[in-house]
Amino acid sequence: MKQPTDFPRVPLAMLPTPLEPLERLGRALDMRLWMKRDDYTGLGGGGNKVRKLEFLMPEAIRQRADVIITTGGHQSNHARIVAAAARRFGMDSLLVLRGAAPNTWQGNLLLDRLLGADLDFLPYDEYPDLVAPRIEARAEELRAAGRRPYVIPLGGASAKGALGYVLAVEELAGQWARLDDRGPDYVVAAAGSAGTLAGLLVGLQRIWPEARLLGISVAWPADRVRERTLELAAETRALLGWAEPRAQEALIVTDEHVGPRYAVPTDGGLAAIRQTAQTEGIMLDPVYTGKAMDGLITLARNGRLGRSPRVVFVHTGGMPSLFAFADALLSAESAAR
Ligand SMILES: Cc1ncc(COP(=O)(O)O)c(C=O)c1O
Repeated sequence: MKQPTDFPRVPLAMLPTPLEPLERLGRALDMRLWMKRDDYTGLGGGGNKVRKLEFLMPEAIRQRADVIITTGGHQSNHARIVAAAARRFGMDSLLVLRGAAPNTWQGNLLLDRLLGADLDFLPYDEYPDLVAPRIEARAEELRAAGRRPYVIPLGGASAKGALGYVLAVEELAGQWARLDDRGPDYVVAAAGSAGTLAGLLVGLQRIWPEARLLGISVAWPADRVRERTLELAAETRALLGWAEPRAQEALIVTDEHVGPRYAVPTDGGLAAIRQTAQTEGIMLDPVYTGKAMDGLITLARNGRLGRSPRVVFVHTGGMPSLFAFADALLSAESAAR
């Protein structure tokens, strides 16, 4: 049996990230609420992907890669953090993004430019079919030019990447031990490509088997998130040589807060951003954490979490994209007055 720390890892994140009590927002939601500030992981503006890249970059370094290729949405935080991690090791990056080249460079796209990433834009609708062949073709072109490309999957979602979140649960448990001798009732996180949920699930089932993990999908149907999470969690346990848990009821996934589709702001998400800013002075984002907080608020309001639950919300980052959604944020703010 292994531990995540037995695997090759490079220090990229500022750890431990703070665990903050959110007393005012918690009172409004009738819960005891803490926020795990993984928006403060540091590198390139921070966010959850920094923990994953600590375990993904060693293989790129071992292969002596000089350019990292990855993919994501227009406002991909993952792509921006990969571009920053590449720079830490003197490498370049190529980001294959979903959507046409923008007219205005804002949010993560602006940061991608500042990091000197090479950007390749694919038409929104054709992206699902085009992305894998495009990455392969660009890698081939780079190899033909004498470069050494290394590909990191969408969202850094792999068993190795998930090790970062198995360790994050250990880190959280160390902080929590000073607060309470029982574990939290719920840990809540936004779910995109499911690597974060998978790592959290493996870590939670080991340390607090009674805790429930609430994944709020921001893109995929709940069934797909659930299947992918369980699949990645099983691969992560296999890597560690850890036994499968007897039951999987720890994982609860909802897709009720996606809205029209990925990266399209929702009224609930925008309201959750304002409520969190105006009760706690903390910024969320319209693509991930705002929708996740909307999910938590709605479940709490509907009495689905029981009385006064102890909840940890994992702030997975994403703040740069706020600036790319200024119009939606401002019109929602005016309408709420
Ligand atoms: C801010 C933020 N939160 C949550 C997620 C979702 O993480 P995962 O892809 O591991 O589900 C992402 C992924 O890009 C993200 O950027």
